[in-house]
Order: sequence, then structure tokens, then C-alpha cells
Amino acid sequence: MASFLPLLLLLLLLLLPLSTTTTTTSDPTPIGHYCRPFSTFTHLQLNHTQLLHDVADEASISGFATSSILSIPFYTLAQCRGDINSKDCSTCVHAAATALPQLCPPNTFDGRIWFDYCIMRFANYSFFGQVDATYFINYANIDNATDPIEFMNKTSELMSHVSGAATEPGNAGLGRGEYKFEPQITIYGLAQCTEDLEPMPCAQCLSLAVAKFRDYCEFKQGCQVLFTSCWARYEIYPFFFPLDVNATTTLLHHSVVAQVNT
Ligand SMILES: *[C@@H]1O[C@H](CO)[C@@H](O)[C@H](O)[C@H]1NC(C)=O
Ligand SMILES: *[C@@H]1O[C@H](CO)[C@@H](O)[C@H](O)[C@H]1NC(C)=O
Ligand SMILES: *[C@@H]1O[C@H](CO)[C@@H](O)[C@H](O)[C@H]1NC(C)=O
Ligand SMILES: *[C@@H]1O[C@H](CO)[C@@H](O)[C@H](O)[C@H]1NC(C)=O
Ligand SMILES: *[C@@H]1O[C@H](CO)[C@@H](O)[C@H](O)[C@H]1NC(C)=O
Repeated sequence: MASFLPLLLLLLLLLLPLSTTTTTTSDPTPIGHYCRPFSTFTHLQLNHTQLLHDVADEASISGFATSSILSIPFYTLAQCRGDINSKDCSTCVHAAATALPQLCPPNTFDGRIWFDYCIMRFANYSFFGQVDATYFINYANIDNATDPIEFMNKTSELMSHVSGAATEPGNAGLGRGEYKFEPQITIYGLAQCTEDLEPMPCAQCLSLAVAKFRDYCEFKQGCQVLFTSCWARYEIYPFFFPLDVNATTTLLHHSVVAQVNT
């Protein structure tokens, strides 16, 4: 039997150490994509570029959108990171809508693309509301943290708080937080679920993502694990918005940081 596809796609990519600033880019490049071809060659009988741009238009407004055409069938979802403004969100989801049909051949029945600020996905089956923990992307900083065991301990606690925040009603699937590990070192954490997930599947997805840190990011200064239905990331530089000094105040409001004790 031609089992031509691995059940698990893992792209293990090592990032060079990053500078301590985050820049906004006007021309985003994908950080990964995944395509699964039909078992027998089939063309989707529609212009899916247009459909993906339509869902991108919708997602530009609220940060999240889905669409479905049951007769084909064709399901698609676009999600921006919840801290991204609508202009950057729009740029990202439209870049996704353009790149996905180019990267995935026309006989793809399951296509996914990841950017820093958004993800987009389509399939011939409905995946809405369901945790998908099959395919993921992992980026890890190559540098180890100082005091690595304690660092991972505090990172785990921070990630469990931001994951909790992501499942709270009104947070649109986003949790952010920071923890001052040492006077000069702050750990920043972010968790995001796609907004079709209810709190329980969101929590389940994030706990699977955070659990991957042990296998793929042990002792690393920064890491991200990106499934399509949720993703989790920590760094020792601010990578989410707002980047200004008032960020902590905002985050304390979500009671994300306060409970991480020294
Ligand atoms: C989607 O495509 C795959 C691969 O060809 C096929 O096995 C599956 O039955 C299709 N699903 C639907 C709901 O059409
Ligand atoms: C599909 O739609 C896009 C965007 O509207 C358009 O640029 C492209 O030419 C269309 N492709 C086909 C094959 O119709
Ligand atoms: C990080 O720590 C691990 C475990 O102690 C070690 O094997 C690895 O060489 C270290 N990597 C770097 C870049 O220092
Ligand atoms: C962190 O360390 C403390 C004290 O040793 C321990 O009680 C706690 O369970 C650890 N937390 C994690 C997430 O490993
Ligand atoms: C931070 O908060 C203070 C007090 O609310 C405010 O005066 C200041 O303008 C804020 N700074 C920024 C960069 O938003």
C-alpha cells in the first residue's frame, strides 16, 4: 500500500539568535506550509485563490473567519494572532491566500500555511471546532538559557497561565504574559487558539503544544510550537503587541503574570 505520507510532519528549524527587538514587516514570508494531495489526481472544480482571498477579506475585519462550500466540499479558515492590528492582519491573510495555492499543487485536499501573524487552512472536510495536533512547526532558538532548569520551570508556569488566559471568554483565543526571570531577563509567552475552538478543546490543544517544549525546546531561550488549531511561543524579547512599557499593565489586567511566584 502506498502510504506515501508521514502521519506527522515536523519541520524542525533552528533560528539564528535574534536581536532583542521585533520588527514589523510589510512583506511577510511564510514560516511553513503543508500540503496533502488527493489519493487520485483531482482538480478542485473552483478557483480557490478567489475563495481564500474572500475569507482573508473577512478575517481582516475581525481577525478570524471561516467559509464552507458543502457541495464541493471545501472548507477554509483564516486566523490572525489576536494582538495584531487589522492592517497587519489583512496583509498577512492576503499573503497567505496568495501563497497557499502557489505552494500547494492544485490537487491538494488539505493545505495549511503559517506566518508569524496569521495562519490559513483549507480542506475537503470540516475541521471547525476540532483540535488538530497532527502537523506542527517548531522553531527553537539555538541558544540555551542561563540557569536552564529554573528557566524551563518558570517558562512552564508562564505558559500555563497564558494558556489559561487564551481559553477565557472575551480573549478571542489569545493569552499573553511576561515574567521577570532575572533583573535583566524577562520571559514573554503567548498562546493562541483559532477562534472556532471552544475553551476545552482550546486548552487541550495548547497543553499539547506546550508539552512539545519539553521534547523540542528543553533549555532553549526561545521556542514556538505551531499546530494549525493553536500555537504557543516564548522568547526573552518582546514579540507580541503592545511592545511598549505599558504592556505589563495590560497583561496584569488579564491576571496572566501576577500568579507566577518566585
Ligand atoms: C478528501 O480527499 C481525500 C483524498 O483523496 C479522500 O480520501 C477523502 O474521502 C475526501 N473527503 C471528502 C469529505 O470528500
Ligand atoms: C482565480 O482568481 C484570481 C483572483 O481573482 C485570479 O487572479 C485568477 O486569474 C483566477 N484563476 C483562474 C484560473 O480563473
Ligand atoms: C544546551 O544544553 C544542552 C544540554 O545541556 C547541551 O547538550 C547543548 O550542547 C547546549 N547547547 C548550546 C548551544 O550551548
Ligand atoms: C517549578 O519548581 C517548583 C519548586 O521546585 C515546583 O513546585 C513546581 O512544580 C515546578 N513547576 C513546573 C511547571 O515544573
Ligand atoms: C503608559 O501609561 C501611562 C499612564 O496610563 C500613560 O500616561 C502613557 O502615555 C502610556 N504610554 C504609552 C507608550 O502608551
